[in-house]
Amino acid sequence: MSPYSHETVLLQEAIDGLNIIGSGTYVDCTYGRGGHSAEIIKRLNEHGHLYAFDSDQDAIEAGRKRFAEESTVTFTRENFRRAPAKLDTYGVESVNGVLFDLGVSSPQLDDKTRGFSYRGDEPLDMRMDRQQTLTAEEIVHTWPFESLVHIISRNGEEKFAKPIARAIETEREKTKITSTEQLAALVKHAIPAAARRSGGHPAKRTFQALRIAVNDELQAFEDALSTFVAKLEVEGRLAVITFHSLEDAIAKRTLNMYCSTPELPPGLPVIPEHMKPTMKWINKKPLVPSHEEVEKNRRARSARLRIVEKIRERRA
Ligand SMILES: C[S@@+](CC[C@H](N)C(=O)[O-])C[C@H]1O[C@@H](n2cnc3c(N)ncnc32)[C@H](O)[C@@H]1O
Repeated sequence: MSPYSHETVLLQEAIDGLNIIGSGTYVDCTYGRGGHSAEIIKRLNEHGHLYAFDSDQDAIEAGRKRFAEESTVTFTRENFRRAPAKLDTYGVESVNGVLFDLGVSSPQLDDKTRGFSYRGDEPLDMRMDRQQTLTAEEIVHTWPFESLVHIISRNGEEKFAKPIARAIETEREKTKITSTEQLAALVKHAIPAAARRSGGHPAKRTFQALRIAVNDELQAFEDALSTFVAKLEVEGRLAVITFHSLEDAIAKRTLNMYCSTPELPPGLPVIPEHMKPTMKWINKKPLVPSHEEVEKNRRARSARLRIVEKIRERRA
């Protein structure tokens, strides 16, 4: 694998799950390096179309280059929370399938200028969209102690959020924290020695927390899910690959709202049309990668795939 390629996770499962029709309109919300997109494009005929989004300019440039000869795909550098509105401007009212493959790509992790990795010495950046101004360095330097505790404990599920936030606060009074190496060392020392020995790299959870905050990942995902559900045609499918429990909880909770009937008043003989679920789960439990896939690609180990299908439009 080249240093700037991305090993696509749950490729076959996600593509099968989308149940692609050749003349359909599809959306890849997270193009990355196009592993899923390429398989969608292969299945489209001249009437079908794929709209590929990514907030990272490098991803979109790579896609435009790779598919320069391909007329069935349109690339847009945009946060997926604004993708439905962007599709409106393209005159696309409804779609047959939507895919989210969340998180960062390997090229982003490997690029030493991006600051996503706690293993190297990189600028403390972590922006997926380099046109936005908020960086991890700005959060580390300007957010109050309470906000740091909040994001590290919520987005990182880190039980030592307070000592870590305290260490950041003390350090930033003395010096500029500008690199991933500085931050990783600081986090490591803020965690009790005994706790450093389990649960992977001690800075992993804090880096995840900062990355989520820099890119407002959870809110963007929650917003986009509901808007895309409304944009799906009946029999259209939405597939979501998540990489940690916070993302998966949002997918499960949000999609469940559309897949279940709300509590009915007692004695109601039939479910009124407007209360019937508009979506159904294709797989009751999330699909997970095979042992073989995890053996080949460690990054796949926490992946979960959830798929839903639209079964009716919401009626008033
Ligand atoms: C795991 S990678 C996708 C990999 C892709 N499926 C492949 O096979 O190459 C996730 C991609 O989603 C992009 N991304 C993450 N959050 C996004 C958002 N809110 N809007 C648009 N793109 C986003 C990242 O920039 C990254 O390129």
